[in-house]
Amino acid sequence: MSDETTPKTSRRSFLQATSGVVAGAAMTKLNIPGFHSSNDDTIQVALVGCGGRGSGAAVNAMATKAGNLKLVAMADVFADRQKDSYDAVSAEGKKMPGKFDVPKERMFLGFDAYKKAMDCLRPGDIVILTTPPAFRWVHFTYAISKKLNVFMEKPVTTDGPTSKRMLKLADEAKAAGLKVGVGLMSRHSVGMQELYQRIRNGEIGDVTFMRGYRMHGPAASSESTFSMKKDGMSHLEFQIRRFHSFLWCSGGCFNDFNIHLIDQMCWMKDAWPTKVYATGGRHYKISPDNTPFVDQNLDTYGCEYTFADGTKMFFDGRIIQDAQTIYSSHIHGTKGVAIASRSGDCGGPQATFSGHNENKDRQIWASTDRSNPYQNEWEALVKAIKDNKPHNEVQRGVMASLVSSMGRMAAHTGQEVSVDDILNGDHEFAPNVDKLTYESDAPVMPGADGLYPMPEPGKKTREY
Ligand SMILES: NC(=O)c1ccc[n+]([C@@H]2O[C@H](COP(=O)([O-])OP(=O)(O)OC[C@H]3O[C@@H](n4cnc5c(N)ncnc54)[C@H](O)[C@@H]3O)[C@@H](O)[C@H]2O)c1
Repeated sequence: MSDETTPKTSRRSFLQATSGVVAGAAMTKLNIPGFHSSNDDTIQVALVGCGGRGSGAAVNAMATKAGNLKLVAMADVFADRQKDSYDAVSAEGKKMPGKFDVPKERMFLGFDAYKKAMDCLRPGDIVILTTPPAFRWVHFTYAISKKLNVFMEKPVTTDGPTSKRMLKLADEAKAAGLKVGVGLMSRHSVGMQELYQRIRNGEIGDVTFMRGYRMHGPAASSESTFSMKKDGMSHLEFQIRRFHSFLWCSGGCFNDFNIHLIDQMCWMKDAWPTKVYATGGRHYKISPDNTPFVDQNLDTYGCEYTFADGTKMFFDGRIIQDAQTIYSSHIHGTKGVAIASRSGDCGGPQATFSGHNENKDRQIWASTDRSNPYQNEWEALVKAIKDNKPHNEVQRGVMASLVSSMGRMAAHTGQEVSVDDILNGDHEFAPNVDKLTYESDAPVMPGADGLYPMPEPGKKTREY
């Protein structure tokens, strides 16, 4: 996008505010990205990845009270997804005058659309990165080069090599004074924040073990068959559209679905586990339409994580139709138990109990705050930008992604996996993800049996 479509007064204001000298080194030193000029307090926002969450995040951005945010550009790889998002977000924008200004010229399509959308922004504006996680490091790299603040969705990585890369990028963003929010919204749930403090204050004693469960029927694109691949659709398009089914694109259901509960339990423990062993199984190989499932997910996962002090964290994941739904997390201590998520990713009320039964008559405390963590995370990001205070959630986002991937890897290989094993491993699922075009082969292609490679614990040393 040329400067022709960039609001000119705003860019001029920024140049004036920096005495006409826009030198990268100088901006880094002065932490300029946190600032906007006094005569234009608008923070422009671009959306990269116009799906369900991206549309939601764009609305959260427009609704942010901590600053004056305006959505000005949208990027995606699929026109239909972008149109749906445009329709939904512009309808919300109509209720918030001045917050939505995305003309056709600032709607971009293609694997390089992210660059064009970010080129519409000024240093210090915000880009929302809500594509499947495979593209996160690519888009974050460009955002840093453009001196943009960032809101990116979880997971932020899918494997060891991309985690290492993202940790490095986190440092670069920090050094440049950029503010980066990561969509692990539990961290912005007021009830969870209060619970964290109560656990630190010893309300349930020393944490001895934790339990998390995400067990429900098929959701989003967790299961895939080739009957869902329309005529003429490439493997790449199929896999991106059904990204929860493919490890390179999402880290699989395990990473994408379970990360919230795993992250919040580690937060309550104030540590990351050092190793994990896990089991998993694929019970149903043929779908109800009588064609084979071609996704790379197992139907069940059971993990035992261990922390440096020996504390255990158990996690069960299951995606099976009509089996019992359990979706919650619990922290056990020497004196009692706490409910972190009562239902869903971070549903309250959070509560503490004396003893290990979660009975009302043993309840010590229950949270009462009902604010929306998805909105709170935006208020925190924008406040940090306005106040130019440190705000970089990438490192913990990477650790949560890595620890989740570690459980998945242990189940898929049938081996115990340590943080060092995965972080220093060489299996990068999609090394050329930054070079994809519509014509590219997908990072996983069918083998001689016509199917994509699957996890085969014990048989393969890699995940597939
Ligand atoms: N924090 C939460 O509670 C929460 C909830 C839902 C989703 N998410 C996360 O948000 C991300 C997106 O999930 P979703 O449910 O919105 O998926 P989605 O499929 O609805 O949206 C993804 C969008 O990104 C687009 N896209 C894919 N590759 C792209 C690329 N290279 N460049 C530009 N656009 C591209 C797709 O076409 C699609 O429109 C995932 O990482 C997911 O885990 C987080």
